[in-house]
Amino acid sequence: MTSQTPIYEARNISKSYGSVDALVGVNLKIHAGEVVGLVGDNGAGKSTLVKCLSGAHQPTSGQMLLDGKEVEWKTPHEAIEAGIETLYQESGLAPDLSVSSNVFLGREELVKGPLGRLGFLAQKSMDKKAHEDLERVGIAVPASNRAVSQLSGGQRQAVAIGRAVSWASKIIILDEPTNHLGARQAGEVLNIIERVKSEGFGVIFISHTLPHVLQVTDRVAVLRLGRLVADKPTSEFNSETLLGTITGLIGE
Ligand SMILES: Nc1ncnc2c1ncn2[C@@H]1O[C@H](COP(=O)(O)OP(=O)(O)OP(=O)(O)O)[C@@H](O)[C@H]1O
Ligand SMILES: [Mg+2]
Repeated sequence: MTSQTPIYEARNISKSYGSVDALVGVNLKIHAGEVVGLVGDNGAGKSTLVKCLSGAHQPTSGQMLLDGKEVEWKTPHEAIEAGIETLYQESGLAPDLSVSSNVFLGREELVKGPLGRLGFLAQKSMDKKAHEDLERVGIAVPASNRAVSQLSGGQRQAVAIGRAVSWASKIIILDEPTNHLGARQAGEVLNIIERVKSEGFGVIFISHTLPHVLQVTDRVAVLRLGRLVADKPTSEFNSETLLGTITGLIGE
């Protein structure tokens, strides 16, 4: 933790879908250079909170503060513009495109060409920037002009994280980034999270793999049936107490 004011804060957030109360009065703070684990059983409300924080859904009530100032996102684009990148479980990489094209997908650099305002993609500069951005967080991808379909699952996940890192300026939200990865590849993703943290980003890390959560986070927030039931430094949990808090065997 490197600063007092959280870079991002959810205050008393509730979200209802019809008669389903997915979130009830949830508070969460993320500081610069901090990795916050967000855990809970299936249906606990993790993705709903992510959707509120990333502008995909609007909370029914409550506030969100970025650098201490209240913000309201009408679209995910507004949250992205403000420096919040979200990596959803399905990362949406395009397998047939190159690494750098994936990093820049939807935000390709256009340069003015002979065709005037149509322009063309500044491929060389995108390859170079993608390579630099990935390298910065310790992502070793053979060549950024290689197609994503030729990469391993772990390398793909790394590119998806690299893409988020390359565009985020404040917060990176990772929903299950180590899912379906082998032990070594998951370890690589955890290393990347450490690097991203040391660059001063705030990170929200969602996972059902509790050893990963205990390894990489500074603090863990536990949701149960839409309510925050614990928010403590990771050092105060071990695998049994964390599991017990998630399942409710250990009370609030
Ligand atoms: N669009 C929606 N419409 C209606 N109910 C929803 C919607 N999205 C989520 N819910 C409900 O809100 C609750 C929280 O769901 P959410 O997806 O946030 O859980 P989660 O913690 O991400 O679970 P998982 O670990 O399975 O991904 C669940 O009861 C779910 O059925
Ligand atoms: Mg979810």
